[in-house]
Amino acid sequence: MTSEPPPTVDALCELLASLAQHAYGEDLDVLAHSLQTAAHAERSGAADDLVVAALFHDVGHGLGDPTEWGVLDHSTTGARYLARWFGPTITEPVRLHVQAKRYLVATDSGYRNRLSRASLESLRLQGGPFDEEHAARFARERFAADAVTLRRWDDAGKVPDDEVPPIEHYRPLIEAAVV
Ligand SMILES: [Fe+2]
Repeated sequence: MTSEPPPTVDALCELLASLAQHAYGEDLDVLAHSLQTAAHAERSGAADDLVVAALFHDVGHGLGDPTEWGVLDHSTTGARYLARWFGPTITEPVRLHVQAKRYLVATDSGYRNRLSRASLESLRLQGGPFDEEHAARFARERFAADAVTLRRWDDAGKVPDDEVPPIEHYRPLIEAAVV
């Protein structure tokens, strides 16, 4: 993968589009979910880079070996891939969004009840809730707050047939974010 030349914005959009073929145990495909997550970010008035992070946060599901619940290490796989074109304001929330779930389950008492079945199943396989030490370590990450915010949009973006803007809507933001 690392020997490939950098893709253009077109190729990044194509990779996103290919996520329509990926299931991850939810009632919608990974592309529909990614577009909903980005729409939540945009509606919340998030910084442009965090909207782009929301759009690409699950791109690792298209880059690894899927289980019934998708690619379990998709956050690190995706962040590593994206790091060739985007800076840490995008790659770090992506890298940390699975850790943010483990952190929120440990620190927000009502959070677990709001998780989908697939998220609960993958949580178990991803190591379960953080213990106190891991939670404290996560909280010290520079982009922990952005990762937690992204995680909440991620959890909300799982509504089958929700009408949200398409990939092309985000092209100017993607172009501006490529470093
Ligand atoms: Fe997600």
